[in-house]
Amino acid sequence: MELGISDRVAVVAAASKGLGRAVALGLAREGANLSLCARGEEALKATAEEIRRETGVEVLTTVADVFKPEDVQRFVAGTASHYGRIDILVTNAGGPPNTTFNDAAPEDFLDAVKLNLMGAVRLSKEVVPHMQRRKWGRIVHIVSLAAKQPLPGLILSNAARPGILGLSKSMANELAKDGILVNSACPGYTLTDRVDVLTKARAQQLGISQDEELKASAARIPLGRIGMPEEFANVVVFLASERASFVTGVAIQVDGGQYAGLY
Ligand SMILES: NC(=O)c1ccc[n+]([C@@H]2O[C@H](COP(=O)([O-])OP(=O)(O)OC[C@H]3O[C@@H](n4cnc5c(N)ncnc54)[C@H](OP(=O)(O)O)[C@@H]3O)[C@@H](O)[C@H]2O)c1
Repeated sequence: MELGISDRVAVVAAASKGLGRAVALGLAREGANLSLCARGEEALKATAEEIRRETGVEVLTTVADVFKPEDVQRFVAGTASHYGRIDILVTNAGGPPNTTFNDAAPEDFLDAVKLNLMGAVRLSKEVVPHMQRRKWGRIVHIVSLAAKQPLPGLILSNAARPGILGLSKSMANELAKDGILVNSACPGYTLTDRVDVLTKARAQQLGISQDEELKASAARIPLGRIGMPEEFANVVVFLASERASFVTGVAIQVDGGQYAGLY
C-alpha cells in the first residue's frame, strides 16, 4: 500500500532510541522529512545520520527535553521555521520510573503527569496551529498498555497515562473539522532500552534473573513473545498516513494480545 506521505514533514519527539526511533525510521522509509528531539545529543545525531543514510530524507535534530515547556516550544518553532510546515506529530517521552504506591512520593506522580500527559499537551498545542493553517494533520500519541490495563510496578505510568487517552479522544472530536486526525497507540512489552531497564529492576525486586523475567513477561502475551520496535512503528506510521483518512479517536493496543479487555 502506498501510504501517501512522501514529502510530508513529521515531528517525532523522544526519537533517538526505542519506539520513537523506530517510528521516525518508518516515516522516513515512506519519504517523510523529519524533525526529531531527545535530551542526549550524541545518540540523537547518530540516529539522524543512520536514517539519512538509509532513506535519503532530511532529518532536523533538536536537543530538547519534553518535560520542559521552553524546550518543547523551541523544538516546534525551529521545525516550523526550517520546513515552513508541520503535517505529522508523534508525541512521545521517556517513561516514569518503576515504583510502587508505598515507595512513590506525591511529587513523583506530578512529575509523571508533567512528563507524559503535559508533554503530549504541550507538543500538540505548539503543532496544531501549523496543521490548522493547512487543514491537514495527523497526530499519534505514543501511550502505553498501562493506559488501558494497570501494569505491576508501574503505578506512576498507570496513573498518568489514561489522561492521554482522554486528551487524544477530545482532540480528535474538536480538530476533525480542521482535517486533523488524532489517535493513540498503546505499546505492550516491546524490546527497547527501557524494557531492558524495567525488566532488570523487576527481576531484582522478585529475586530472579532478567532472562526469567523476560520469559515470564512473554508468557503473559498471547502471541508468546515480546514485540519488536518496528512492529509498533508499522501501526503508528499507518495512523500517521494519508491512508488512515477515516480513522480518528481510536486508542489501539500493539501488544501481541496482552490487553485483557474487550474494548
Ligand atoms: N518499550 C516498551 O515496552 C513500552 C511499553 C509501554 C510503554 N512504553 C513507553 O513508550 C515510551 C518510549 O519507550 P521506549 O521503550 O522507546 O524507551 P527508550 O528505549 O528508553 O527510548 C526513549 C527515547 O526517548 C528519549 N527521551 C526520554 N526522555 C525524554 C525527554 N524527557 N525528552 C525528550 N526525549 C526523551 C530518549 O533519549 P534521551 O534519554 O537522550 O532523552 C530515547 O530516545 C516511554 O514513555 C515508555 O514508557 C514503552
